[in-house]
Amino acid sequence: TQYTIAVVVGSIRKDSFNRKLAKALEKLFPTEFSFTQVRIDDLPLYNQEDDASPAASVTRLKGEITAAQGVLFFTPEYNRSIPGVLKNAIDHASRPYGESVWNGKPAAVIGASVGPVGTALAQQHLRNILAYLNMPTLGQPEAFIHNKEGLYDEAGNIGEASKKFLQSWVDAYVAWVKQNQA
Ligand code: FNR
Repeated sequence: TQYTIAVVVGSIRKDSFNRKLAKALEKLFPTEFSFTQVRIDDLPLYNQEDDASPAASVTRLKGEITAAQGVLFFTPEYNRSIPGVLKNAIDHASRPYGESVWNGKPAAVIGASVGPVGTALAQQHLRNILAYLNMPTLGQPEAFIHNKEGLYDEAGNIGEASKKFLQSWVDAYVAWVKQNQA
């Protein structure tokens, strides 16, 4: 069986540490897993008036989530919560009412930060949202990534210090996706 995972990165800056983490983690998955990098930087600000005539970027986002067997969220922490751009994307794909494409998709949450406390509070806020959206979300292991020297090797792969732990995180999510298919 092939599994496609939608990768949602809550930062739209070019050199995002969360995007870099996403790229490196993808390489730790088995070959039966492939990834769709979901674009969120061209979505309009969510406006309920537009539900009946969504922008092309919104239709694309919803199609990509619908086609996926799971969703991976990489969230930065902004002021102890998730970035507005990420919430905007989540809101778009949750509407119109009753037609949320997030429903039932097995999810995992991870995040990279420049601070040692990591993205703990942002991840907790995100978990609240995903619970409401009825997304079974991996509970353990949790991963709060401090973007510091040695996290990656020269090739941009996960470095030795964190590889074993992050591989265990990936393995847990792989099992989670398989056991949560409808
Ligand atoms: C931050 N940053 C931050 N870091 C953190 O650990 N906790 C926080 O509450 C915040 N708050 C915050 C607010 C705003 C508006 C910005 C721009 C930044 C720092 C954050 O970890 C850093 O900018 C990361 O590099 C963001 O992730 P990306 O863009 O590299 O993926």
